Amino acid sequence: MLVERATVQATEAGAAASWPFTLAPVRTLTSEGLNFTKPVTFLVGENGSGKSTIIEAIAEGFGLDAHGGRAGRKYGNDREKTPLGEAIGLEYTRAGSRMQTGPRSKKRGFFLRAETAFGLLNFVSGMSGYWDENLGEMSHGEGFLTVLETMFAEPGLYLMDEPEAALSFTSCLRLIALMHRLGEIGAQVICATHSPILASTPGAEIIEVGEHGMERVAWEDLELTAHWRRYMSDPDFYLRHLIGETGPA
Ligand SMILES: Nc1ncnc2c1ncn2[C@@H]1O[C@H](COP(=O)(O)OP(=O)(O)O)[C@@H](O)[C@H]1O
Ligand SMILES: [Mg+2]
Repeated sequence: MLVERATVQATEAGAAASWPFTLAPVRTLTSEGLNFTKPVTFLVGENGSGKSTIIEAIAEGFGLDAHGGRAGRKYGNDREKTPLGEAIGLEYTRAGSRMQTGPRSKKRGFFLRAETAFGLLNFVSGMSGYWDENLGEMSHGEGFLTVLETMFAEPGLYLMDEPEAALSFTSCLRLIALMHRLGEIGAQVICATHSPILASTPGAEIIEVGEHGMERVAWEDLELTAHWRRYMSDPDFYLRHLIGETGPA
């Protein structure tokens, strides 16, 4: 593990009583901080709850570009930090501190945003040190996993924002294995997801983000899990509210 805790400086947050400090999970971050106790952490919650805002700020706090990319490299335009990225403070483990204070080339990490993943894949495909396989001959999902498996091979901070978008069921299982392995080699993963599959990664901690702020919840007790379980066993339970009675008359 590399990052033990995230906090927000009260003075900076207090001075900014506007977005994103008004979001419930950011208020929790400001008042209580967020402890990372497991090498793999998931943020789950409804659209608009603040997952991306928090992941981006952690990326900026660690020194990863918020556009998504490898530590120490910039993709796209130089952008100012986000307001939360400016205010966030990260507390490091011994290994994390060594990485932060060492030479820039020793800083390992990657931030994979759902929206930019495809462009990023094309951009880095010709660069050495990434991977040798020809991504042009692969599907989006295959290329995505190849990149992940190649790049995510050493201790570093790996941030992902809804990586499941490109992945089939089987590919999600491969990603679970990969994230789990990363946890075991001293890396750290923080991942926003809507996928109950990814969130079931053994040994991971799940933080539910929403109007209540941030709360640790067991996989079995997640609303996400309950909805999928109910939907898979009886789609009509949901659909009849949306499109009236379904099925044979
Ligand atoms: N630059 C911004 N300025 C103001 N509000 C924003 C900005 N970016 C996102 N938001 C709002 O902040 C909330 C949280 O967004 P986001 O972190 O993207 O949620 P999630 O990733 O959980 O879907 C949303 O209501 C969104 O509209
Ligand atoms: Mg998001």
